[in-house]
Amino acid sequence: MTELRERKKGASSPSTVSPSQSLKKSPGTKGGFSCVSVLLALVFVVGATVSTSFVLTKSLTFGYSIRELRQHIPILFDAAKQSETSAGTASETSGSAKKPAQNKVEKKLLTLTTEELRQFDGKDPNKPVYLAINGRVYDVTAGREKYYGPDGGYNFFSGVDAARAYITGCFQTHLTHDLRGLTQAEIDSLSTWSDFYENHDIYSYVGQVVHEPIPEDAPLPEPCT
Ligand code: HEM
Repeated sequence: MTELRERKKGASSPSTVSPSQSLKKSPGTKGGFSCVSVLLALVFVVGATVSTSFVLTKSLTFGYSIRELRQHIPILFDAAKQSETSAGTASETSGSAKKPAQNKVEKKLLTLTTEELRQFDGKDPNKPVYLAINGRVYDVTAGREKYYGPDGGYNFFSGVDAARAYITGCFQTHLTHDLRGLTQAEIDSLSTWSDFYENHDIYSYVGQVVHEPIPEDAPLPEPCT
């Protein structure tokens, strides 16, 4: 027994080095595996995953699109995205890049005369219906049937800037943008209606109407009540 213990001691003497000790000490190894083995293992895992995906789904990504993968494992794409952004910023500075806003289809705003606006009074079913409030033109085609077409109860607003009538409720004689003689508070109250069209789900702002200036000596619209 004593002899055996001594033999064991002798086996771990400094002159004898076990295989694991030798691995720990050699350069380029990590936790008992060399870097090359770790890399090979990674390549193997990725290769096996891609091949399995191809066999099962005939796609290299288990049938997921790149967009879906982006959502599921964003970390893989973040670095690429960041470098794209910084490249974009650099070239934007140099003036050659397409800005993101340019990719959107921007609607061109209209500039109409009073006469041009009149063509959009809802009578022609092939044209949109526009109305204006104090120079701002709104597309109200979605309300053609109910309000703004020839059979609608508010057709008198179509094709004109009837800002005054929105304030006074005089739907026969105040279909004009002429706001002279009204108080500032009355004029301010117009924003209720412009906000109504501006923020409406189915109506939208499409541009402006530029009126001829109102002659100073033109008579003030008569009150209707
Ligand atoms: C300054 C006065 C008024 C103005 C400027 C005005 C304007 C309007 C406008 C622009 C609409 C259409 C809204 C849309 O496009 O969705 C509308 C709808 C309506 N207005 Fe007036 N209005 C006025 C006064 C009145 C009055 C006094 C009444 C009631 C006696 C009234 C009853 C209605 C009703 C019931 C609707 C909805 C009609 C429907 O659903 O078919 N309005 N109004």
